[in-house]
Amino acid sequence: MHLKQLHLINYKNLEQAELEFSPGINCFVGENGAGKTNLLDSIYYLSFCKSYFSAIDSQNIKHDESFFMMQGIYERHEEEETIYCGIKRQQKKQFKRNKKEYSKLADHIGLLPLVVISPSDEQLIGEGSDQRRKYIDGVVSQYNKSYLEHLMRYNRALVQRNALLKKMREERISDYSMLELWDEQLINLGEKIYNQRLAFIEELVPVFKHYYAFISGGREVVELQYKSHYKRGEFREQLVESRDRDIILGYTTKGIHKDDLELLLGEYSIKKIGSQGQKKTFLIALKLAQYEFLVQHSGLKPILLLDDIFDKLDEGRGNRLIQMVAEDKFNQIFITDTRKAHLEEFITATGKAYKMFNVTNGAVNPE
Ligand SMILES: Nc1ncnc2c1ncn2[C@@H]1O[C@H](COP(=O)(O)OP(=O)(O)OP(=O)(O)O)[C@@H](O)[C@H]1O
Ligand SMILES: [Mg+2]
Repeated sequence: MHLKQLHLINYKNLEQAELEFSPGINCFVGENGAGKTNLLDSIYYLSFCKSYFSAIDSQNIKHDESFFMMQGIYERHEEEETIYCGIKRQQKKQFKRNKKEYSKLADHIGLLPLVVISPSDEQLIGEGSDQRRKYIDGVVSQYNKSYLEHLMRYNRALVQRNALLKKMREERISDYSMLELWDEQLINLGEKIYNQRLAFIEELVPVFKHYYAFISGGREVVELQYKSHYKRGEFREQLVESRDRDIILGYTTKGIHKDDLELLLGEYSIKKIGSQGQKKTFLIALKLAQYEFLVQHSGLKPILLLDDIFDKLDEGRGNRLIQMVAEDKFNQIFITDTRKAHLEEFITATGKAYKMFNVTNGAVNPE
């Protein structure tokens, strides 16, 4: 699957662009603030119906303009797919596949699989467990439609249970029968979600380790460990045991909403001991493993977006990375860099054909 053409109007600082891409490697080069990341973000948008960076759509419209629109023409399973998105300020977004508007945006997710590697992924290491759960949920829901549904139902039950716990605390009641309805939902839905997360992580880990070893030149050993209350024996018992505590605190302390993924370099948390280049390598290996996972489960080779990929990597790691993504296992790639000569040097070494675009002050021109 690949993106053949992209047409943009007023997306962030990009006033107007009509571009034709290579099915292989595409490079966006230009100075800081030129619009390279915005261009990648528009490609992300066409796959996920939202920006990778800002959840508020009006912020993605070019300042002082009233709308943005984007259209991508893809080749997918040897058929052409035209995806259109248009947004006017204060109006609902329009999202269309082959001129037909989606009734639910969720129906689009997974049609055009895509993996992005961006400096903002640092949050996965640096921030709280919610970021890592969001990451897992994002990948699993790309290929498993029922997962998102289960997760939404779980979250609704959780909100209800927490409201009840607060009420019980305030009114000093401890009638467990009132909690049981929500407990059953958390147990049943939680188990489904846990099993999906576990299956994903178990499949991801060996591939992740392989990529890390390859890019780092076998220098370091890494590990991912899934942490969940479900792993510590019968979940029902844990939920029942923690009822009194939950009432005192006014929220649910046990469940998949507390899951985490431990990221280890050797025996230690990479957040605490990892160097910048090691953290970057870690995130790249994670995303490439995710790529491979999506290939297995969607039967399509996702589009790969590499934003500022060589920043912080040493020469050896940068070279091994680009050699690897140029292999046939990967398909269409979009790379950004501020240093054109540097990027060309890396890519020429792969022997692969590529297309170069200069991005200047919101304007994009092919070479
Ligand atoms: N809604 C918007 N309207 C107009 N300009 C915007 C909007 N949102 C962001 N920008 C501008 O887009 C520019 C940033 O673009 P982008 O992040 O794509 O740069 P970049 O080429 O990736 O730079 P770097 O090399 O620093 O990563 C900034 O100048 C920012 O002010
Ligand atoms: Mg950028």
